[in-house]
Amino acid sequence: MSKSMQTQNRRALVTGASSGIGRELCRHFAADGIDLVVVARRQERLEELAEALQAEYDIDVRVEPCDLADAEARTALFERLDADDVNVDYLVNNAGFGSNGPFHELDRVRELDQVEVNVVALTDLTHRFLPGMLARGFGRILNIASTAAFQPGPYMSVYYATKAYVLSFTEGIAHELEGTGVTATAHCPGATSTEFAEEASNDDTLLFKSGVATVESVAEHAYLSMQRGKTVAIPGLKNKFGATMVRFSPRKLVRSIAARLNR
Ligand SMILES: NC(=O)c1ccc[n+]([C@@H]2O[C@H](COP(=O)([O-])OP(=O)(O)OC[C@H]3O[C@@H](n4cnc5c(N)ncnc54)[C@H](OP(=O)(O)O)[C@@H]3O)[C@@H](O)[C@H]2O)c1
Repeated sequence: MSKSMQTQNRRALVTGASSGIGRELCRHFAADGIDLVVVARRQERLEELAEALQAEYDIDVRVEPCDLADAEARTALFERLDADDVNVDYLVNNAGFGSNGPFHELDRVRELDQVEVNVVALTDLTHRFLPGMLARGFGRILNIASTAAFQPGPYMSVYYATKAYVLSFTEGIAHELEGTGVTATAHCPGATSTEFAEEASNDDTLLFKSGVATVESVAEHAYLSMQRGKTVAIPGLKNKFGATMVRFSPRKLVRSIAARLNR
């Protein structure tokens, strides 16, 4: 497949590309002829993905294993790309994870890592790559939030709070970026069939038992919303309805429903 004029020499950096939504998003970039930098901890999986995408599409994929919870590793990643003059035109902050249980019973370091990956790394990468996008007059930032962003979530209190940050931060910068050629999109999926639920010990919750979206449909919605420069995008009618209802419902009721869904 030959690259179109619009996507020629453009590159996307996708975090959390070793699994789930991130991995699926990489397919969309590749199909549009956009080169990739794939980031996650599991190097083998990234290499398999790079090999498969390069065999199928006329693109270059750079594999960058990195623990995003580690500030020094993030700096080293940025410096490697900078040293090789790799421009990032599309930044996808997708890497993230959750944990289920009463806050005081959950592992302290894992909770802090959750804030580091879901919030700090996302902010750090955005701050590092945004100036280049602005200088070139083009950029797309896609931050994967969640329907968890719209209300507090007992038994996943840290996770919900991190996603509220992602939504608020993204809306804030999206406004600042108007007219620059760079857009920021907060994508807010509900329960989706990936490795997330198992990783968060969430498989048995009412939320995940009451229906999950396919990873393909969620990634496609995220990709198209980002390309169109939408600021907030929620896939699925049920999720849109839920996000709207919480704005008009008593906070105590909203907390109780979220608590029930997370048990
Ligand atoms: N699935 C859902 O129900 C759902 C719903 C709403 C929002 N989301 C959000 O969607 C995003 C993607 O999750 P997913 O559902 O696709 O889950 P997933 O299949 O578990 O994928 C998570 C990805 O994040 C990466 N990651 C986790 N910790 C990392 C770290 N310290 N450093 C680098 N990469 C790290 C993982 O790679 P390695 O393990 O290889 O590092 C993996 O590629 C997350 O932000 C999640 O919060 C998911």
